[in-house]
Amino acid sequence: MALHLLCDRLVNPKTKTKRRTQSANQERGGSLGTVGRVVDRALTAVIDVLTDEPSATTLLVKQHQLVKALFKQIEGTPAHADKLELFEELAQNLVAHDAIEREIFYPACEKALGMSDLLGEALVEHGVIEFCLYEADQATKDDFAVKCRVLGEMVLHHAKEEENELLPRVQKTLAKAQLERLGKQMQERFERAKAEDFRAQVYDNLKQVLAGATKPSKRAPKSSKRAPKSSKRAPKSSKRAPKSSKRAPKSSKKSSKRRRAARRVA
Ligand SMILES: [Fe+2]
Ligand SMILES: [Fe+2]
Repeated sequence: MALHLLCDRLVNPKTKTKRRTQSANQERGGSLGTVGRVVDRALTAVIDVLTDEPSATTLLVKQHQLVKALFKQIEGTPAHADKLELFEELAQNLVAHDAIEREIFYPACEKALGMSDLLGEALVEHGVIEFCLYEADQATKDDFAVKCRVLGEMVLHHAKEEENELLPRVQKTLAKAQLERLGKQMQERFERAKAEDFRAQVYDNLKQVLAGATKPSKRAPKSSKRAPKSSKRAPKSSKRAPKSSKRAPKSSKKSSKRRRAARRVA
Protein backbone atom coordinates (compact mmCIF):
# COMPACT_ATOMS: atom_id res chain seq x y z
CA MET A 1 0.00 0.00 0.00
CA ALA A 2 1.01 3.55 -0.59
CA LEU A 3 0.93 4.28 3.16
CA HIS A 4 3.73 1.80 3.81
CA LEU A 5 5.77 3.27 0.98
CA LEU A 6 5.28 6.77 2.32
CA CYS A 7 6.38 5.68 5.80
CA ASP A 8 9.43 3.93 4.33
CA ARG A 9 10.30 7.03 2.35
CA LEU A 10 9.95 9.33 5.34
CA VAL A 11 11.84 7.05 7.73
CA ASN A 12 14.56 6.20 5.24
CA PRO A 13 14.90 8.96 2.62
CA LYS A 14 17.58 6.99 0.72
CA THR A 15 15.14 4.18 -0.02
CA LYS A 16 14.27 4.02 -3.70
CA THR A 17 10.50 4.04 -3.77
CA LYS A 18 10.07 3.81 -7.54
CA ARG A 19 10.40 0.04 -7.75
CA ARG A 20 8.36 -0.43 -4.59
CA THR A 21 5.60 1.82 -5.93
CA GLN A 22 5.43 -0.23 -9.11
CA SER A 23 5.09 -3.49 -7.21
CA ALA A 24 2.49 -1.94 -4.92
CA ASN A 25 0.52 -0.79 -7.95
CA GLN A 26 0.52 -4.34 -9.24
CA GLU A 27 -0.56 -5.71 -5.85
CA ARG A 28 -3.49 -3.33 -5.45
CA GLY A 29 -5.99 -5.01 -7.76
CA GLY A 30 -9.59 -4.11 -7.19
CA SER A 31 -9.80 -4.97 -3.49
CA LEU A 32 -9.81 -1.36 -2.23
CA GLY A 33 -13.06 0.41 -1.47
CA THR A 34 -13.85 3.90 -2.78
CA VAL A 35 -12.36 5.65 0.25
CA GLY A 36 -9.35 3.33 0.13
CA ARG A 37 -8.74 4.13 -3.53
CA VAL A 38 -8.96 7.88 -2.89
CA VAL A 39 -6.52 7.65 0.03
CA ASP A 40 -4.25 5.37 -1.96
CA ARG A 41 -4.19 7.77 -4.94
CA ALA A 42 -3.47 10.73 -2.66
CA LEU A 43 -0.61 8.94 -0.94
CA THR A 44 0.84 7.76 -4.24
CA ALA A 45 0.77 11.38 -5.33
CA VAL A 46 2.72 12.38 -2.21
CA ILE A 47 5.30 9.69 -2.95
CA ASP A 48 5.67 10.90 -6.52
CA VAL A 49 6.30 14.42 -5.30
CA LEU A 50 8.85 13.19 -2.73
CA THR A 51 10.73 11.23 -5.35
CA ASP A 52 10.62 14.10 -7.86
CA GLU A 53 8.92 11.88 -10.41
CA PRO A 54 5.42 13.29 -10.74
CA SER A 55 3.27 11.34 -13.12
CA ALA A 56 0.97 13.20 -15.51
CA THR A 57 -2.07 12.63 -13.30
CA THR A 58 -0.27 13.63 -10.11
CA LEU A 59 0.98 16.80 -11.74
CA LEU A 60 -2.54 17.76 -12.82
CA VAL A 61 -4.04 17.13 -9.37
CA LYS A 62 -1.24 19.15 -7.77
CA GLN A 63 -1.95 22.04 -10.14
CA HIS A 64 -5.70 21.81 -9.43
CA GLN A 65 -4.96 22.12 -5.73
CA LEU A 66 -2.82 25.21 -6.27
CA VAL A 67 -5.51 26.84 -8.40
CA LYS A 68 -8.22 26.05 -5.83
CA ALA A 69 -6.04 27.60 -3.10
CA LEU A 70 -5.56 30.74 -5.21
CA PHE A 71 -9.33 31.13 -5.69
CA LYS A 72 -9.80 30.88 -1.92
CA GLN A 73 -7.05 33.43 -1.33
CA ILE A 74 -8.62 35.89 -3.80
CA GLU A 75 -12.03 35.47 -2.15
CA GLY A 76 -10.56 36.08 1.32
CA THR A 77 -8.35 39.04 0.39
CA PRO A 78 -9.98 42.40 1.19
CA ALA A 79 -7.91 44.85 -0.92
CA HIS A 80 -8.77 44.93 -4.63
CA ALA A 81 -5.14 45.56 -5.66
CA ASP A 82 -4.08 42.42 -3.78
CA LYS A 83 -6.90 40.45 -5.40
CA LEU A 84 -5.65 41.50 -8.82
CA GLU A 85 -2.10 40.49 -8.00
CA LEU A 86 -3.32 37.03 -6.97
CA PHE A 87 -5.52 36.89 -10.07
CA GLU A 88 -2.47 37.38 -12.31
CA GLU A 89 -0.81 34.39 -10.68
CA LEU A 90 -4.03 32.39 -11.01
CA ALA A 91 -4.40 33.28 -14.70
CA GLN A 92 -0.80 32.30 -15.48
CA ASN A 93 -1.35 28.93 -13.84
CA LEU A 94 -4.72 28.36 -15.51
CA VAL A 95 -3.43 29.18 -18.99
CA ALA A 96 -0.35 26.98 -18.60
CA HIS A 97 -2.55 24.18 -17.21
CA ASP A 98 -4.87 24.55 -20.20
CA ALA A 99 -1.86 24.29 -22.55
CA ILE A 100 -0.52 21.05 -21.11
CA GLU A 101 -3.94 19.41 -21.03
CA ARG A 102 -5.11 20.38 -24.50
CA GLU A 103 -1.73 19.98 -26.21
CA ILE A 104 -0.34 16.91 -24.45
CA PHE A 105 -2.59 15.20 -21.93
CA TYR A 106 -5.94 15.09 -23.77
CA PRO A 107 -4.36 13.82 -27.04
CA ALA A 108 -2.66 11.06 -24.99
CA CYS A 109 -6.04 10.26 -23.38
CA GLU A 110 -7.70 10.11 -26.80
CA LYS A 111 -4.97 7.80 -28.09
CA ALA A 112 -5.29 5.49 -25.09
CA LEU A 113 -9.05 5.59 -24.47
CA GLY A 114 -10.50 6.85 -27.73
CA MET A 115 -12.67 9.94 -28.05
CA SER A 116 -15.53 9.88 -25.56
CA ASP A 117 -18.27 12.23 -24.35
CA LEU A 118 -16.20 12.75 -21.21
CA LEU A 119 -13.18 13.96 -23.18
CA GLY A 120 -15.37 15.95 -25.57
CA GLU A 121 -17.07 17.73 -22.65
CA ALA A 122 -13.70 18.46 -21.06
CA LEU A 123 -12.49 20.11 -24.29
CA VAL A 124 -15.63 22.24 -24.56
CA GLU A 125 -15.38 23.23 -20.90
CA HIS A 126 -11.85 24.48 -21.51
CA GLY A 127 -13.32 26.90 -24.06
CA VAL A 128 -15.91 28.11 -21.55
CA ILE A 129 -13.19 28.56 -18.93
CA GLU A 130 -11.10 30.59 -21.40
CA PHE A 131 -14.08 32.89 -21.90
CA CYS A 132 -14.71 33.23 -18.13
CA LEU A 133 -11.01 33.94 -17.62
CA TYR A 134 -11.10 36.65 -20.27
CA GLU A 135 -14.23 38.15 -18.65
CA ALA A 136 -12.66 38.19 -15.18
CA ASP A 137 -9.47 39.75 -16.55
CA GLN A 138 -11.50 42.51 -18.25
CA ALA A 139 -13.71 43.09 -15.20
CA THR A 140 -14.01 46.39 -13.37
CA LYS A 141 -13.61 46.77 -9.62
CA ASP A 142 -17.42 46.45 -9.33
CA ASP A 143 -17.89 43.18 -11.18
CA PHE A 144 -14.52 41.49 -10.60
CA ALA A 145 -15.80 39.50 -7.59
CA VAL A 146 -18.77 37.93 -9.41
CA LYS A 147 -16.82 37.24 -12.61
CA CYS A 148 -13.97 35.66 -10.68
CA ARG A 149 -16.47 33.57 -8.68
CA VAL A 150 -18.11 32.25 -11.86
CA LEU A 151 -14.67 31.40 -13.23
CA GLY A 152 -13.91 29.58 -9.98
CA GLU A 153 -17.16 27.60 -10.14
CA MET A 154 -16.42 26.52 -13.71
CA VAL A 155 -12.84 25.52 -12.88
CA LEU A 156 -13.85 23.58 -9.75
CA HIS A 157 -16.59 21.71 -11.62
CA HIS A 158 -14.17 20.85 -14.43
CA ALA A 159 -11.33 19.79 -12.11
CA LYS A 160 -13.73 17.62 -10.05
CA GLU A 161 -14.87 15.75 -13.16
CA GLU A 162 -11.29 15.24 -14.27
CA GLU A 163 -10.20 13.93 -10.87
CA ASN A 164 -13.23 11.69 -10.35
CA GLU A 165 -13.72 10.33 -13.86
CA LEU A 166 -11.00 11.01 -16.42
CA LEU A 167 -7.82 10.63 -14.35
CA PRO A 168 -8.79 7.28 -12.76
CA ARG A 169 -9.51 5.87 -16.24
CA VAL A 170 -6.14 7.09 -17.49
CA GLN A 171 -4.35 5.69 -14.44
CA LYS A 172 -5.92 2.29 -15.09
CA THR A 173 -5.03 2.30 -18.79
CA LEU A 174 -1.54 3.82 -19.04
CA ALA A 175 1.55 2.23 -17.53
CA LYS A 176 3.36 4.10 -14.78
CA ALA A 177 6.37 4.69 -17.04
CA GLN A 178 4.11 6.25 -19.68
CA LEU A 179 2.47 8.50 -17.09
CA GLU A 180 5.90 9.61 -15.87
CA ARG A 181 7.11 10.37 -19.40
CA LEU A 182 3.97 12.39 -20.04
CA GLY A 183 4.38 14.12 -16.68
CA LYS A 184 7.91 15.21 -17.56
CA GLN A 185 6.82 16.52 -20.95
CA MET A 186 3.87 18.36 -19.39
CA GLN A 187 5.99 19.89 -16.63
CA GLU A 188 8.40 21.33 -19.22
CA ARG A 189 5.58 22.73 -21.36
CA PHE A 190 3.90 24.15 -18.24
CA GLU A 191 7.02 26.12 -17.28
CA ARG A 192 7.33 27.53 -20.81
CA ALA A 193 3.65 28.51 -21.01
CA LYS A 194 3.73 30.05 -17.55
CA ALA A 195 6.69 32.24 -18.53
CA GLU A 196 4.77 33.69 -21.51
CA ASP A 197 2.19 36.48 -21.41
CA PHE A 198 -1.04 34.81 -20.31
CA ARG A 199 -3.25 37.39 -22.06
CA ALA A 200 -1.77 36.67 -25.49
CA GLN A 201 -2.45 32.98 -24.93
CA VAL A 202 -6.02 33.60 -23.74
CA TYR A 203 -6.80 35.77 -26.78
CA ASP A 204 -5.35 33.20 -29.17
CA ASN A 205 -7.27 30.38 -27.49
CA LEU A 206 -10.47 32.43 -27.55
CA LYS A 207 -10.11 33.01 -31.28
CA GLN A 208 -9.96 29.27 -31.75
CA VAL A 209 -12.97 28.74 -29.45
CA LEU A 210 -15.02 31.33 -31.34
CA ALA A 211 -14.12 29.56 -34.57
CA GLY A 212 -15.65 26.41 -33.11
CA ALA A 213 -12.38 24.58 -32.51
CA THR A 214 -11.97 22.52 -29.36
CA LYS A 215 -8.59 20.97 -30.12
CA PRO A 216 -5.50 23.12 -30.63
CA SER A 217 -3.72 22.74 -33.92
CA LYS A 218 0.05 22.99 -34.38
CA ARG A 219 -0.55 25.87 -36.74
CA ALA A 220 -2.84 27.51 -34.20
CA PRO A 221 -2.22 31.18 -35.10
CA LYS A 222 -2.80 30.63 -38.83
CA SER A 223 -5.84 28.43 -38.48
CA SER A 224 -7.34 30.65 -35.80
CA LYS A 225 -7.17 33.62 -38.19
CA ARG A 226 -8.58 31.75 -41.15
CA ALA A 227 -11.33 29.91 -39.33
CA PRO A 228 -13.47 32.87 -38.19
CA LYS A 229 -13.44 34.40 -41.68
CA SER A 230 -14.68 31.26 -43.35
CA SER A 231 -17.24 30.62 -40.62
CA LYS A 232 -18.60 34.17 -41.02
CA ARG A 233 -18.73 33.89 -44.77
CA ALA A 234 -20.87 30.78 -44.73
CA PRO A 235 -23.96 32.27 -43.02
CA LYS A 236 -23.77 35.44 -45.14
CA SER A 237 -23.80 33.55 -48.40
CA SER A 238 -26.61 31.33 -47.16
CA LYS A 239 -28.68 34.43 -46.28
CA ARG A 240 -28.07 35.98 -49.64
CA ALA A 241 -29.45 32.99 -51.49
CA PRO A 242 -33.08 33.29 -50.27
CA LYS A 243 -33.09 37.07 -50.95
CA SER A 244 -32.07 36.60 -54.55
CA SER A 245 -34.58 33.80 -54.98
CA LYS A 246 -37.35 36.09 -53.64
CA ARG A 247 -36.36 38.91 -55.94
CA ALA A 248 -36.70 36.74 -59.02
CA PRO A 249 -40.45 36.07 -58.76
CA LYS A 250 -41.13 39.77 -57.95
CA SER A 251 -39.39 40.97 -61.08
CA SER A 252 -41.13 38.33 -63.19
CA LYS A 253 -44.54 39.47 -61.81
CA LYS A 254 -43.76 43.09 -62.55
CA SER A 255 -42.65 42.31 -66.06
CA SER A 256 -45.75 40.21 -66.73
CA LYS A 257 -47.98 43.08 -65.45
CA ARG A 258 -46.15 45.49 -67.71
CA ARG A 259 -46.60 43.10 -70.60
CA ARG A 260 -50.35 42.82 -69.91
CA ALA A 261 -50.67 46.62 -69.62
CA ALA A 262 -48.79 47.06 -72.89
CA ARG A 263 -51.18 44.60 -74.61
CA ARG A 264 -54.25 46.56 -73.30
CA VAL A 265 -52.79 49.83 -74.59
CA ALA A 266 -52.09 48.20 -77.92
FE1 LIG B 1 -8.96 20.28 -17.94
FE1 LIG C 1 -7.15 20.00 -15.18
